Amino acid sequence: MLNSKTIVVGVTGGIAAYKSAELVRRLKKLNAAVHVIMTENACNFITPLTMQTLSQNPVANNMFKEPSTWEIEHISLAQKADLFVIAPATANIVGKVANGIADDMLSTTIMAAKAPVIFACAMNENMYQNQIVQHNISKLRKVGYIFIEPDCGKLACGQEGQGRLADLDDIVDKVIRTIIYKPDLAGKTILVSAGPTKEFIDPVRFITNGSSGKMGYCLAKAAAGRGARVILISGPVSLKAPRGVDCVNIVTAQEMHEEMIKRFEYADIIIKAAAVADYRPINMANNKIKKAANNLVLEMVKNPDILKDVGSRKGKRIVVGFSMETENLEQNALTKLKEKNLDMIVANDITAEGAGFDKDTNVVKIINKFGMIKNLPVMTKEHVANVILDEVLRLENVEK
Ligand SMILES: Cc1cc2nc3c(=O)[nH]c(=O)nc-3n(C[C@H](O)[C@H](O)[C@H](O)COP(=O)(O)O)c2cc1C
Repeated sequence: MLNSKTIVVGVTGGIAAYKSAELVRRLKKLNAAVHVIMTENACNFITPLTMQTLSQNPVANNMFKEPSTWEIEHISLAQKADLFVIAPATANIVGKVANGIADDMLSTTIMAAKAPVIFACAMNENMYQNQIVQHNISKLRKVGYIFIEPDCGKLACGQEGQGRLADLDDIVDKVIRTIIYKPDLAGKTILVSAGPTKEFIDPVRFITNGSSGKMGYCLAKAAAGRGARVILISGPVSLKAPRGVDCVNIVTAQEMHEEMIKRFEYADIIIKAAAVADYRPINMANNKIKKAANNLVLEMVKNPDILKDVGSRKGKRIVVGFSMETENLEQNALTKLKEKNLDMIVANDITAEGAGFDKDTNVVKIINKFGMIKNLPVMTKEHVANVILDEVLRLENVEK
């Protein structure tokens, strides 16, 4: 899968350094050419001999040692690499790169690298939560470095918390995704909404719709895989939030509106894939409504129009809406695009074969504000998500 790809694994001085041996083994199994650079401190935790044997390449750790070939080693690895993965990444290496310090083989090579760099942080929870460490992480994210957050659990220091090196499956998955899908969204913040909302009639009954959230979750996952910082505002669904995505759970349309408005100004791109209820009952009964008369009239009031509110205040941000229709697909979508000041709309006919709420596939038409219409065949929602993101980037380039 990673044939002809060169991956540099950077190992720093954390207790999880022993796991980097298994990471190298897995990347080799995927046919990547793997080169390891270790910090001096990493060599206290695991030997260069282990890494050299598993990678089948000499291990670099000293800039001032005579190079094994005529090339200057850190420059040659920086040029050769398709990707860098620093696992485990200490607070120290993150701090050094964030502040332009290049005082050893690893930090110097990262500084000279053109390829994407992934940091898989691992450290004590207090270190990870330290404001300076967090500041360094967000500073690096902003300029396109990619982070895999540590997992929660029991830490080597005996504490419980967030600090364990992420699962190797997740690290390898991120490596593959970053190589296959170029991190073309690195440095961007994307706000995605997904799923249905619930509008309560009484404490036990509500009005909702059949949205499974799959399309929005695929968008969030794809955007994160392409290097974006993703905030997902999700209605009640039974899906697990994709790794590396900040998920905010809401229930009602009003809550969705509140969270979207609170966050949209921090985003570069807003994609509203949620199926938000247009109306809600005027009053929610305090107690369960008893069965009595033959007819029950429910008075409804309009919910806030999230897309319109975001569209009217969007400035230079790109706003993408979804239009799920059962008739006059293109016309309805175009009207929505204009009325809500959107940049792009993804329209689908819910009755079409291969489309629909709980399906893993979708059939969509992508329409942008310049009149481009792209009809996509039946595709997995994951694939559709990537095409939507491609079109967003294309639109952004046109506007530059
Ligand atoms: C036993 C031990 C375990 C450590 N584990 C970690 C760790 O998991 N994460 C971390 O950021 N630092 C850890 N440190 C501290 C780093 O080794 C220290 O900050 C060092 O300067 C990192 O150097 P490097 O980034 O050049 O490898 C540990 C230190 C010791 C002695």
